[in-house]
Amino acid sequence: MLLFASVHFLLLGGAAPELAAHYPNLSAAAAPDSDPTALFRSFALDHADVLVQLLATRSTQTNEVGRCAQFLPAFGLLDQQVGSLAHIDVGTSAGLNLLLPRFAYEYSKSGSVEPGQPSPVRLHCEERGELPVPLPARMPQVTHSVGLDLAPIDVLDDDQVRWLQACVWPDQADRFERLVAAIGMARHDPPRIHQGDALTDLAPLVEQALPDGHPVITNSWVLNYLPDSVRGQYVAELDRIGSRTDMSWVIAEAPAQTPGLPVPTTDPPEEITVITLVRWRQGERSVQRLGTTHPHGYWVQWEGLPHTE
Ligand SMILES: C[S@@+](CC[C@H](N)C(=O)[O-])C[C@H]1O[C@@H](n2cnc3c(N)ncnc32)[C@H](O)[C@@H]1O
Repeated sequence: MLLFASVHFLLLGGAAPELAAHYPNLSAAAAPDSDPTALFRSFALDHADVLVQLLATRSTQTNEVGRCAQFLPAFGLLDQQVGSLAHIDVGTSAGLNLLLPRFAYEYSKSGSVEPGQPSPVRLHCEERGELPVPLPARMPQVTHSVGLDLAPIDVLDDDQVRWLQACVWPDQADRFERLVAAIGMARHDPPRIHQGDALTDLAPLVEQALPDGHPVITNSWVLNYLPDSVRGQYVAELDRIGSRTDMSWVIAEAPAQTPGLPVPTTDPPEEITVITLVRWRQGERSVQRLGTTHPHGYWVQWEGLPHTE
């Protein structure tokens, strides 16, 4: 994966147009019919030094804005129940999912949700299964946004941004384009990101958010990076904060890779992502499994099950 990302990184910098012509995201024209393997191989050999350097120093990094289509219905439910929301995105990467209220959304059956201003990012989400996704009548009011990450991406840093783009596979051209568009939005008005650890640095962020709105913590494809014992401590930390502060937690993680979360699951051990809403109200915790979803938010199968705890 790192080798492909590293070559992609160099092509994004303008290297080897004849190889780049085979990359659907880098070429407006249809890819040549020929097999690019020999071109790829000779490019890699010619650039061995810089590739070895990249392989030794980089790790894969993503920020998938399609996941906002997973979060939006939960934000809509919460907006109706508690009013203005203070969004805290843990494991936020470049903080692009903090732009949730500024994206436009189109669900295949339930219709669209539009932001106040026309958005360069329009997320398309297929609805699967019987139940329609309950969409809010208007964009939820998010009055406070902050991200938390051990190693945040600075959207104003060209090298970091190019690496983030390089980690999207070139045949997923629509995914690449929406990432580029979201980065463009973030560069105009960079999201606020706190560098720190999910476990030890969350409580002060919740405290700071309280005057602005109801704290909503989101996690998407982050908790799989924590060892099981630390994930357990993270859940305990949220319970501790929730025992004295009304707040909500929207989880979009794969249960097979995140044992110990309060996510009711009998899902097969695949990469299926489950959206779960956890609420603490006056010290009482309730858990509601909302649905399953594609890991990048391309589809949602709504369940909206009743609260289970
Ligand atoms: C796969 S990315 C997902 C980013 C984003 N949530 C999304 O859905 O696109 C995982 C992120 O979690 C961050 N991360 C991993 N462990 C963390 C921790 N203990 N505390 C805070 N952030 C962490 C990584 O630095 C990385 O940016």
